[in-house]
Amino acid sequence: MLWSSSIAVVAALSNTASAQLNDAYSPPSYPSPWMRGGNGWADAYTKAQAFVSQLTLLEKVNLTTGVGWEGESCVGNTGAIPRLNFPGLCLQDSPLGVRDTDFNSAFPSGMNVAATWSTRLFKSRGNAMGSEHGGKGVDVQLGPVAGPIGRVPAGGRNWEGFSPDPVLTGVAMAQTIQGIQDAGVIACAKHYIGNEQEHNRQAAAPYNFAYSANIDDVTMHELYLWPFADSVRAGVGAIMCSYNQVNNSYASQNSYTLNYLLKNELDFQGFVTSDWWAQLTGAASALAGLDMTMAGDQGLASGDTFWGSNLTAAVLNGTIPQWRLDDMVTRIMSAYYKVGRDTHKVPVNFNSWNLSTYGYQHPEANEDFTQINWHVNVQDDHAALIREIGGASTVLLKNTNNALPLNKPKYIAVIGEDAHDNPAGVNSCSDRNCDIGTLAMGWGSGTANFPYLIAPNTALKAQAASDGSKYTNVSDNYDFDAVTAAVTGADIAIVFGNADSGEDYITIDGNQGDRNNLTLWGNADALIAHVASINPNTIVVLHTVGPVIVEAYKNHPNVTAILWAGLPGQESGNAITDVIYGKVNPQAKSVFTWGKQREDWGVDVVYTPTSDPPQLNFNEGVFIDYRHFDAAGIEPSYEFGFGLSYTNFSYSNLVIQKQNPGPYEPTTGETSAAPTFGTIDYNAADNEFPPGWHAVKDYVYPYLDGPVPTGLPQDWPAGAQDGSPQPKLPAGGSGGGNRQLWDTMYTVSATVTNTGGVKGTEIPQLYISLGAPTDPKVVLRGFDDLILDPGESETFTYEVTRRDISNWDTASQNWVVSTYPKTVYVGSSSRNLPLSGALA
Ligand code: NOJ
Repeated sequence: MLWSSSIAVVAALSNTASAQLNDAYSPPSYPSPWMRGGNGWADAYTKAQAFVSQLTLLEKVNLTTGVGWEGESCVGNTGAIPRLNFPGLCLQDSPLGVRDTDFNSAFPSGMNVAATWSTRLFKSRGNAMGSEHGGKGVDVQLGPVAGPIGRVPAGGRNWEGFSPDPVLTGVAMAQTIQGIQDAGVIACAKHYIGNEQEHNRQAAAPYNFAYSANIDDVTMHELYLWPFADSVRAGVGAIMCSYNQVNNSYASQNSYTLNYLLKNELDFQGFVTSDWWAQLTGAASALAGLDMTMAGDQGLASGDTFWGSNLTAAVLNGTIPQWRLDDMVTRIMSAYYKVGRDTHKVPVNFNSWNLSTYGYQHPEANEDFTQINWHVNVQDDHAALIREIGGASTVLLKNTNNALPLNKPKYIAVIGEDAHDNPAGVNSCSDRNCDIGTLAMGWGSGTANFPYLIAPNTALKAQAASDGSKYTNVSDNYDFDAVTAAVTGADIAIVFGNADSGEDYITIDGNQGDRNNLTLWGNADALIAHVASINPNTIVVLHTVGPVIVEAYKNHPNVTAILWAGLPGQESGNAITDVIYGKVNPQAKSVFTWGKQREDWGVDVVYTPTSDPPQLNFNEGVFIDYRHFDAAGIEPSYEFGFGLSYTNFSYSNLVIQKQNPGPYEPTTGETSAAPTFGTIDYNAADNEFPPGWHAVKDYVYPYLDGPVPTGLPQDWPAGAQDGSPQPKLPAGGSGGGNRQLWDTMYTVSATVTNTGGVKGTEIPQLYISLGAPTDPKVVLRGFDDLILDPGESETFTYEVTRRDISNWDTASQNWVVSTYPKTVYVGSSSRNLPLSGALA
């Protein structure tokens, strides 16, 4: 039968995968699993059923299909149900704040908040962002991001996500999602899956196809799927499928990734929306598990659609069974009720396409001139949180002889364009499509307008004024004469540099989303060298989207401190000043590895593919970032998890307690048959445009726009239309996978002591060696943030789960604890692990 044969295909695939990814194949998996209201979704499911049962076919279709680009106020809008006073759903970017509006906050990037390693801050940021989206009338916040995870260091959108480590990313995803959804807004985890570079993410001449991320079964489970599993377990309401192909099948119509992995194995109960125009087929994508299409039109403002009227026709002629349509809509409405949209909803009060108070309600058509912006201030007191995360995410990479923190220096010079304001204004570059002035977010859809942006120069100058320090600054990275004059004789020279990246629809200085190199932008490497050649107390501050090559100055004796401040958002200057002056003691640890040269990562962006579809073979398997550096024996500049403090910490007293949760039971049994909700009126005439209807130009409607096609060849994949009970997967059965994966197998604890002179926060990190020759040397599994006074000790405890010590087994399609001896390590970075013990 289909099920066992698809397992066999997967297994066969995986055995040959690393040798032959080039012919990677994504096996079919049908039917699309229908939701069952499990995993804490029962109440929402009941409410959704009641709502969906009253809907007509047209109303159901309207909820699945966007109205088209710039059809309404939000970046994405579903159709409405006027009869029930239901306005339709508003989907809005971004993962760091409400995009394309005003009176919103600009939060630190995902990569920054990850660098705090603080679950409290992960969640608080999510909650604050969620409440801002909610206050603007947004139903679905398009974030957080776990894809890209950060396979290649030059990947343009890595900063939107958290870290190339799946555990850190998974925890950050779960906490962010809970924060957003606690605020009554649906979170949308994206981009599912394999969306690891910007080049060729979509078909673009001369290529006819988007790249295929070719990922073997083990790597899929142990790396790329892992944080999405955590997202599902956290109850995420929506998942956005990506533009790229996965094993040569488009991610937004890939029945294996959507039906098999996401909806069956991970038991995802929410809805899948496409990335904007990532949908490339009509009925096929519906059967493969897509629940909502965005922006709804086939191409940007094309006016035609794969769904809308075509989905109505496909239901009427029996291609799409009622149960599949009902499942799409029930998933969408369940997510709505799950986060309490029915009680939290305020009307959409902004317009993404025009910040003026009055404008067109349907901007693409230039129709309905009316009030479109109410300029609602949703910032609350989030500035304080943004400043806190800014400081807590700043990694102190070098600090010779306690160069930092500063204490009322006599004379300080601040150098570099990156310390200064963009003279044209903070939002002068739309979607941040320039790198002018200080860098506080990357570019693309993952942005928000700044309400204001405190440049480092502003905050440092204010600090100098209150200290009575002499202060000079130079913003021109090329004016070395001015720089020489400024830094000569200064007690401290702080030199700022940045490196930017973003989404592929914007190219800056030849960088089409992905970075072309890992050097600093705007002559900043030369600027640092110049300052360091003069001033013996040079402090380097880096605002970068990921690692840059620091070897040229890392060991320079005049470079006494290096700080990575990432993309800190609107409070940038205040946050860096807090750290430099010791008001905040750095706690951050690097969330990626800093290589000495670009080749050190072993994998890179493919800029000019040699085949079509472009084949991106993830032959390195799970060996990205530190796992690769460790396996290849490459010494990094700074390792994953590394970061200094103004105090010191020691580790002692590792205790490992074995627990006995009982044996792991594969999930067995069958689902119930697919339910349907309400009745469908199959009379085509009742589903046509109402007489005299005025159709807004390029707007996508559910009404039939011609006769329902009949007599079409019905060569759909086997089982695609089958609503009978289906077998469950052994690794499935519960949100994120088999619930026993979260059984505690060992409790591990260690004592962490502040041995220095000031209060500080330490991030103890727990790594495990899974033991097989094919496993990474160590993998991160747990962490905490402990606030310790001088001399104080605290116990770090982590419950090691079954999942933590398992490998994915392709043959049984399940997680298995191998017989290889396993070791647990605890310490302050991936390479500084003073404590270890056997997990026996
Ligand atoms: C495309 C981007 O990939 C996605 O992240 C974003 O949410 C949509 N555009 C909508 O802007």
